Amino acid sequence: MTTTESTEESPTAADSGASATEAFRATRQHADGEVSAERVDAVVRAVLAGVHQAIRDERVTYPEFQAAKQWLMDLGEGGEWPLFLDVFVEHVVEDVAAESQRGTKGSILGPYYLPDQQRLPSVTALPSRPDERGTPLVFAGQVRDVDGNPVPRAELDLWHADEQGYYSGFAPGIPDGNLRGVVVTDGHGRFEVSTIQPAPYQIPTDGPTGKLIEAAGWHPWRPAHLHLIVRAPGYRPITTQLYFEGGKWLDSDIAEATKPELVLHPEPTGDGGLRSEYDFVLERA
Ligand code: DHB
Ligand code: FE
Repeated sequence: MTTTESTEESPTAADSGASATEAFRATRQHADGEVSAERVDAVVRAVLAGVHQAIRDERVTYPEFQAAKQWLMDLGEGGEWPLFLDVFVEHVVEDVAAESQRGTKGSILGPYYLPDQQRLPSVTALPSRPDERGTPLVFAGQVRDVDGNPVPRAELDLWHADEQGYYSGFAPGIPDGNLRGVVVTDGHGRFEVSTIQPAPYQIPTDGPTGKLIEAAGWHPWRPAHLHLIVRAPGYRPITTQLYFEGGKWLDSDIAEATKPELVLHPEPTGDGGLRSEYDFVLERA
């Protein structure tokens, strides 16, 4: 593996799994309120009915049941519940949430969001290492409301993986806040951010989620993507991801979180870099 100045250790599943669990605990929205007994009854019954049906359909054996129990214990001990749930389950929760959402399409949050990153002006560069590798990317556009009016001083909370597919704050050896920032749009809702094009993301292969993927004969990849939460006072925030036209794994994302409306069409800038425009549309809260 090639290493950059500040990346000396090679990230492992244990690192990102455990840090994703920690980050979830730390950033979790305060008590989401009591869940009623009716709701627990209805949802848990439905989940269990699905599991029971799978056991009957597949004639699941005792050795298979015990192997599943062992794997679930490993998943918890490795701190990989956030990774596993965000890859295999979150996209359906997002689909349901999206039924009542207008404006820009949403996508999954994933396990690697960190709040309270550096605030940046409308024309800016994301914090990066002096020797940050990767194709330079300028990402520019405008935030508008559903009637087409610009939304001044909207926030683009932006984070993405580096050129090796690793996220700061989760993989070791990357400075805090690297390739993360909260970009504030100008008086016309416009922004222009310089960064690098991220690499596709590979689910860590050495942990329980990776072992499951291998055991099932699946591939462990997500296409390269930018993560965003776009928000402004009085508007419903949008959590989404943007992908790259022609990107590897775009048609077979393991997390099933791509949508055709969320694909960027970058143009070469002539100096080895790329430029991509994308406008966001927010609806009133
Ligand atoms: C996971 C990682 C991501 O970068 C992402 O966007 C979604 C899910 C994961 O490892 O669970
Ligand atoms: Fe991601």
